[in-house]
Amino acid sequence: MFLTSEEERILAGEEGETRRKMMEILVALGKVFGAERMIPVRSVQVSGASYKTIGEYGLSWLRSLDASVAAPTTLNPVGMDRTRWKEMGIDPAFAAKQVEVIEAYQRLGVRLECTCTPYYLHLIRYGDHLAWSESSAVAYANSVVGARTNREGGPSALAAAIVGKTPEYGLHLVAARAPQLVIQVNPGEHEMETAHYGALGYRVGAIAGNRIPIFSGIRPNRDQLKALGAAMAASGAVALFHVEGITPEARIFTYDTRGLESFPVEWNDILDVFKDAPVDAVALGCPHCSEQELARIAALLEGKTVRIPLYVFAAHGVIEKQKPLVEAIEKSGARVFADTCMVVSPAMERFGTIMVNSGKAFSYVPNMCGAAVRLGTTGECIQVATGAPGKEKGLG
Ligand code: F3S
Repeated sequence: MFLTSEEERILAGEEGETRRKMMEILVALGKVFGAERMIPVRSVQVSGASYKTIGEYGLSWLRSLDASVAAPTTLNPVGMDRTRWKEMGIDPAFAAKQVEVIEAYQRLGVRLECTCTPYYLHLIRYGDHLAWSESSAVAYANSVVGARTNREGGPSALAAAIVGKTPEYGLHLVAARAPQLVIQVNPGEHEMETAHYGALGYRVGAIAGNRIPIFSGIRPNRDQLKALGAAMAASGAVALFHVEGITPEARIFTYDTRGLESFPVEWNDILDVFKDAPVDAVALGCPHCSEQELARIAALLEGKTVRIPLYVFAAHGVIEKQKPLVEAIEKSGARVFADTCMVVSPAMERFGTIMVNSGKAFSYVPNMCGAAVRLGTTGECIQVATGAPGKEKGLG
C-alpha cells in the first residue's frame, strides 16, 4: 500500500502516539482489504457513543487518546437526552458515566451532534468520500445521496477522524458499487408507507446479508428510503442499495442484472411483519425523525392525549429548527428527545413491549432493550399511544 511521506511520518510516531496508533489501524485495514492508498474524507460519523453500548472498557480507551480530529466529525446517539435526561428516568450514575464519554469525545474535537442522521445537519454530496459508522447513516449516504463510505466500526471511524483519511477500498470504488441481487417488490394496489418500507427492509436484509440489492416495483420517498436502508442494515449488513429509477446511481448507470439472483417480495410478505400485541410504550424516530416526519406525527396527534408513554427521537439541530412542531407533539403528553434513541438509551428497558414504526428498531429492541417489540405504521402507533380506535394491523 502506497503511503505519502506525511502518512509515513504519522506511522513512525512523529506526530504523537495516538496518531501513530490510529494510522496503524487504517494501514492494517487497507492491507487486509487490498487498498492501494489513503484518501481524504469529507466527514466522519462515529458510533460507540452510548455508555450503554461501550461500557467502561470503551470509556477508558477513549480517555487514553490524545489527539484532535482532522476532519469534521459527529457522534452517534448517546444513552440520554443531554439536557432532559431526568425526564427520561435515567439513573444519575449512568448519566455521570455518559457525560464522561461525551467529554472524552469533546476533548478529541468531535462535534456533540449526537445523531444517526447527520445528513440533516450537514450537506453531503454525490461522490463525497466519508468514513461513517452508524449503519443506517451509511446506507443513506451511499444509497440516497451517492456519497461513498464503507460501514466503519467505531474505532476505524475514529482513526479516520484523527488522521483525516481512510484506506481506499470497498464502497469507495465505483466498481464495487454495482448491484449483486435483484429484489422484485409487488405491493399490488397497496400504498406503501414508511413502516412498510421498514418491514420490507427487515425481510430483505435477512436475504441480502452484506450484498448490494437493487429494487424494482417501488417508488419510495426520502424518508422511506431511509427506513428501508436502516432496516436492511440491521437485519442484514447492507451498506448500499439501489432502487430502479429512484436512487442516484441507478439513474446514472445502466446495470446489467441478468444472471443475478432474484427474489420476489409480495405484499403479504411485508404485512406478515406486523403482529398484534398489547403495548406499554411507543417509540418513533429510528433513524432520527426528519422535519417531515415530525410534522406528520404532530398532525396525527392534534387534539389527542397519550395514555401510554410516547417518545419521539430526533437530532437536536432538527428539534431546534422545528420548535412549534415539537411543542405541538408535546402538547399531547408525548416527549421529543434529542441526542438519544429507543435502542441505545437504557430508558426503554423498563417496558415489556415497545411499539415502533421502524424496521431497524424492530430488529434491535428485543436484544438491546430486553423488551418485546411490535411494528406498526406511524398512524397505528399514534392510535395505540392515544387509545384512539384503530384500523386493521399494518393498514393504519
Ligand atoms: Fe438511530 Fe438509534 Fe435507530 S441510532 S438508526 S435511532 S437504533
